[in-house]
Amino acid sequence: MNYHVLTLFPEMIEQGLNTSIIGRAIEKGLLTLKATNIRDYAFNKHSKVDDYPYGGGAGMVMQAEPVYCAYEAISKEMPKKPRVVYMTPQGRVFDQAMAEELAQEENLVFLCGHYEGIDERVLEEIVTDYVSIGDYVLTGGELPAMVMIDAISRMVPGVLSNNESAEYESFQDGLLEYPQYSRPEEWHGKKVPSILLSGHHANVEKWRHEQSLVRTKERRPDLYEAYMQKEAEEKSKKKK
Ligand code: ADE
Repeated sequence: MNYHVLTLFPEMIEQGLNTSIIGRAIEKGLLTLKATNIRDYAFNKHSKVDDYPYGGGAGMVMQAEPVYCAYEAISKEMPKKPRVVYMTPQGRVFDQAMAEELAQEENLVFLCGHYEGIDERVLEEIVTDYVSIGDYVLTGGELPAMVMIDAISRMVPGVLSNNESAEYESFQDGLLEYPQYSRPEEWHGKKVPSILLSGHHANVEKWRHEQSLVRTKERRPDLYEAYMQKEAEEKSKKKK
């Protein structure tokens, strides 16, 4: 997977993603990450990339040309037109299914806006996906792009060790993960559930699944409803 981020703050992307699991995957060559400074494609001597909005209003708008030139420079190296994800609170809300889908791409371009947004005309020409990371407004698209890159990278084969991938399985089926415990057996008067010390693998699995159900129902009733509905549909399919 090759990530290309078009941004006014390349150092934010590079510093934010060069550590831990993603940093390790980059070192191993499983991922590449290139942050391109849109300012390098400014067409005036002051390296200005924004201007006042036509029609008036607060704030500044990022101009079309530098964004387009930055995109052209990176995409001409690619074998086919890449998917270009524009980070915006107006987009479809990012989720695990989208992470899995995007992980299939060979190249992904993330376009990060600032100020009051980007000139609509360049968005029309280059953007393939408008994506939000949630219903709140951030100061720029860099943190959302980093969130997406982190979640997508976990889905790229080899990025997680076997141990780490197993951990993900429980969210994959639409449920939240069960509670985890480590040593000591008793802490602040609280004991580790005895079943986890029993060594009985099947019982442990059953308990964990029940805990996942309880937890999901309590914390994310929306996910719980969807899970129960899917289960019911699968049962009725089997009967037919
Ligand atoms: N830019 C500003 N806020 C955002 C959000 N919630 N998601 C994606 N991009 C954004």
